[in-house]
Amino acid sequence: MKTYQFPEGFLWGGATAANQIEGGFREGNKGLNIADVLPGGKGRLKVLLEPGFNFEVNKEKYTYPNHEAIDFYHRYKEDIALFAEMGFKVFRMSIAWTRIFPNGNELEANEEGLAFYDRVFDELYKNGIEPVVTISHYEMPVNLVKKYGGWRSREVVTFFERYVTTIFNRYKGKVKYWMTFNEINSGLEFPIMGLGFAIKEESDKYQSTFQAYHHQFVASGIAVKLCREMMPDAKIGCMILYAPVYPYDCSPENVMYALEESRLFNYFCGDVQVRGEYPAFIKRYFKEHNIQLEIQEGDLELIKENTVDYIGFSYYMSRTEKIDKKPMDMGQGNILGGVINPFLKASDWGWAIDPLGLRITLNELYDRYRIPLFIVENGLGAKDEVAPDGTINDDYRIDYLRNHIKAMGEAIEDGVELMGYTPWGCIDLVSMSTGEMSKRYGFIFVDKQDDGSGTLERKKKKSFFWYKDVIATNGGKL
Ligand code: BG6
Repeated sequence: MKTYQFPEGFLWGGATAANQIEGGFREGNKGLNIADVLPGGKGRLKVLLEPGFNFEVNKEKYTYPNHEAIDFYHRYKEDIALFAEMGFKVFRMSIAWTRIFPNGNELEANEEGLAFYDRVFDELYKNGIEPVVTISHYEMPVNLVKKYGGWRSREVVTFFERYVTTIFNRYKGKVKYWMTFNEINSGLEFPIMGLGFAIKEESDKYQSTFQAYHHQFVASGIAVKLCREMMPDAKIGCMILYAPVYPYDCSPENVMYALEESRLFNYFCGDVQVRGEYPAFIKRYFKEHNIQLEIQEGDLELIKENTVDYIGFSYYMSRTEKIDKKPMDMGQGNILGGVINPFLKASDWGWAIDPLGLRITLNELYDRYRIPLFIVENGLGAKDEVAPDGTINDDYRIDYLRNHIKAMGEAIEDGVELMGYTPWGCIDLVSMSTGEMSKRYGFIFVDKQDDGSGTLERKKKKSFFWYKDVIATNGGKL
């Protein structure tokens, strides 16, 4: 079998987000964030379109698996020890904005929240693991959603700047890798998580969405600027949800359509955050959809001068598009839409499995931007079973990851500069799109079920030992 050479110092690790692992949703003075008010279940992201939904917790009507999640808030030491046993070099996590500023708009930070992340970072260092921190991972304070309409409002930039200044000041000696907004482009598909509002009217779909994006780009420029000033040795990246878009066939109409979809979804945000400019194609799009951005003096210069150091991205699936798709052409559960690709199998949640698509992605991104890439999410959501002898034989997960790591090895041979790999949900966690526990990604099993039952005990899956070997051999043994 062919072996692959990964660069020395390659950042092997795993990825999570605060709202999906921590629990302790009201502990340490934490305020409510968006994820806290979205219930468990397949309709999770649509619930806010229900009449009367008011961004409050309603335990009579719904369940909320992430209120306790996997209780990382109390069990982080045990979990970090397990990551260290696998040999993690890095651990991707997010800071919950509402632990630091419970309502988002206070003038003073919450010391209990700051102290919690101090403890986590210290524990990571004790175990030889470097944190990779996402500043905002689908965790906008509910108060900012209700009072200001999320990122629609320019005022949120000021609150974000205060939050960023606070965490940079506090953790400047402890965190070297940062990322601004998780999957920033996902607002085009599920706006509530990233942009902090639901699309209820046609005007929201265009004017509000792109105005909100402008505010996030300004916020991102501010974060990069502050990072350079306060932590000259740190690296700060953007984070994009990337899915290569294939034309369904070679008809030029379908090829053009796939290109347009890809540019809008995969490249619009990256072009602004990496190249520092609104790309030409989006200006045409703005004109055609009558979008007029309110841009303040200095915004475009700020964006131009403060582009990111690296591109963090998630990769789960590719997408296949045709211009005249009918409902029957479309897959079940492919969260990014598109038609069924007859060449690919899908996960139990309908996400197309496409390792070669990762090599294509790495090449497309590197050809376009020529800056280091970091795969900060990838993985297979699957149902795991604990055998009577207590083992969990997740060979399907090992196959999935092995094939994706091989694709990374090929891309490195193609000349792509790849910094690291942090598979998603390295420990089982609550799913973002469905709020389920049963959609498991981890190397570490957590005994917790969708109905909230379970002991929260951690168990090593077969993939735990496999990934440990992968890291120990720097990708030599797959
Ligand atoms: C990414 C998100 O979209 O995909 C994560 O950044 C999320 O928060 C992951 O958990 C997997 O999606 P899901 O819906 O299976 O949890």
